[in-house]
Amino acid sequence: MDNMNSILGTGLSGLVGSRVVDLLGKTYTFQNLDLTTSVDITNEDQVLRAFESSDAPAVIHMAAFTNATKAWEDRGNKDGVCYKVNVVGTENIAKAAQKTGKQMIHVSTAFVFDGEKDGMYTEEDTVHPVEWYGETKALAEEAVQNMCDNWVIFRIDQPFRGDVYEKKADTTHKLITGIKNRTLYPQFTDHWFSPTIIEDFAGVLDWAIQTHASGIYHATSGIKVSDYDYACMINDALHLGGDITQGSLTEYLKTTQRPYQRNTAMNSKKLQETANIAFTPLEQAIAQIQ
Ligand SMILES: NC(=O)c1ccc[n+]([C@@H]2O[C@H](COP(=O)([O-])OP(=O)(O)OC[C@H]3O[C@@H](n4cnc5c(N)ncnc54)[C@H](OP(=O)(O)O)[C@@H]3O)[C@@H](O)[C@H]2O)c1
Repeated sequence: MDNMNSILGTGLSGLVGSRVVDLLGKTYTFQNLDLTTSVDITNEDQVLRAFESSDAPAVIHMAAFTNATKAWEDRGNKDGVCYKVNVVGTENIAKAAQKTGKQMIHVSTAFVFDGEKDGMYTEEDTVHPVEWYGETKALAEEAVQNMCDNWVIFRIDQPFRGDVYEKKADTTHKLITGIKNRTLYPQFTDHWFSPTIIEDFAGVLDWAIQTHASGIYHATSGIKVSDYDYACMINDALHLGGDITQGSLTEYLKTTQRPYQRNTAMNSKKLQETANIAFTPLEQAIAQIQ
């Protein structure tokens, strides 16, 4: 018998997951699947056993190998940790969710796109990754869709939290620190993204559980910004008085072999129209950052 108050989760100690637990911890009891609970998601048996002994109706799968630069150094290696965690790990979670009749809530990334689009990506756009992290996340999405009947995929972009996460800084907190310490590099005017406000994303996950949502959704603030414009927005919203200078991704790319997506901005219209949630305006979310 399912217990609607229990939720299985992976990646709950991570940048996104730990904040989701903070925010939804009063609504749900999270059953964490990670190495501290003796579940390595790359181990099919360990995953299946954990699912079979859980009364949760859904799993939120957030565990991933997220260091895109390290992933690139290991590109093509199917024995490498990036492929194992992102592809094999997701296959194991998807299989177990299907076998035990649980909803598969999968967290993905804008890096599944090549970044060549001028406007914002929609859910209709074709996936075309250009580097290894994105490729493994695209394969993970494919596994979820092929293996599960009951699935929902949320693609997020440069997620940021309203509080401080001690283990690593999100992009927004890195910019805040750089502006405050007067150590900020010139900010690209030719690279664009659409930050995800994690506080809003927690509400989206709650909605997905409660309504048994299915399909692909872009879960972002819905605002396309360049690195330069975003740094200026932060500078203004938090009254930091910094001096933001302009840089160029095109120039930077001449110094590195690793491909970068120029544009990962995703339109979140579908989600904003479907989910009954009040999304926070981006400037307001930034102004509330600790
Ligand atoms: N951060 C971003 O900029 C970003 C952007 C777009 C999409 N995303 C997606 O959002 C999700 C969450 O990202 P995040 O930034 O919160 O990740 P993160 O901070 O790097 O945390 C990764 C999580 O995965 C867990 N994990 C790694 N290998 C595992 C294994 N073999 N078995 C069980 N657990 C394992 C880690 O557990 P330990 O702490 O025990 O190692 C940790 O909880 C990911 O799916 C990511 O692809 C992130």
